[in-house]
Amino acid sequence: MHNRYGTLASWVYNLDKPVGRSFGDVEYYLQRLRESEGPILEPAVGNGRILVPLLESGLSIEGFDASEEMLRYCLDECGKRNLPAKVTRQTFEEFSYDKGFAAIIIPAGSFQLLTDTMSAAAVLRRFHDHLLPGAKLVMDLDPIGSFLGPAGPVRRWEAEDGDLLTLTEQRVETDYVAQTTLSHLRYEHWRDGSLLKTELDLFKLRWWGVEEFSMVLQRAGFVDVVVSGNYQHGRAPHKDDEIISFEARRPA
Ligand SMILES: C[S@@+](CC[C@H](N)C(=O)[O-])C[C@H]1O[C@@H](n2cnc3c(N)ncnc32)[C@H](O)[C@@H]1O
Repeated sequence: MHNRYGTLASWVYNLDKPVGRSFGDVEYYLQRLRESEGPILEPAVGNGRILVPLLESGLSIEGFDASEEMLRYCLDECGKRNLPAKVTRQTFEEFSYDKGFAAIIIPAGSFQLLTDTMSAAAVLRRFHDHLLPGAKLVMDLDPIGSFLGPAGPVRRWEAEDGDLLTLTEQRVETDYVAQTTLSHLRYEHWRDGSLLKTELDLFKLRWWGVEEFSMVLQRAGFVDVVVSGNYQHGRAPHKDDEIISFEARRPA
């Protein structure tokens, strides 16, 4: 199974990208959601890195995630702050709510974890159908360049108790037709020089062209598509941008 975000992967995510860490995205989403009235949904909410500051700012936001382990971190972070944790275990492919949302957000390129185009299109349609008329989808995609570079060196994190966590990434396949990469993410948990646990995450991602994704949004029923680079809303992306954001509406 791909993109599982198991025990060690979730632990590393929470050490590397804890609540409070922003890549400019927390501020951007806060700004883009300022006028949204009503509940907001964050699919693939993870450890609550984005959800928690949005809740703290007074927005009514809830989320879902496929990983029990990621949701546990999110619940803990909300608990520590006495925030209402409306998060459930659901997937992009099958999530369902009996209400409409004033906005749906997908930061951190999480949509690229969907690597099959038919299923990605069906998920966009599902987002569309879960929005109130006139409500918006705001999401980020990582640009093609971030996929094709060489995998970095071994990364390491020290846990609270002094244990060591390491991550070694190896790209095992790049499919230029399907626009996907498959990497082996090998996580290791060490204590006093002994290996306690290891975990292999088969990590698959898809890259999208900017025009391609705008068209897919339109085909899913969205209108008023705005594409922006590096969190400068309305500024068309250019080749050196590190993040590309899309905003689109369900017709009123
Ligand atoms: C990069 S993290 C993003 C977490 C959070 N949104 C953030 O901005 O920090 C991606 C998340 O997607 C979740 N995920 C992966 N595949 C999924 C799927 N099919 N349905 C729902 N969530 C999924 C993972 O469990 C993980 O928590």
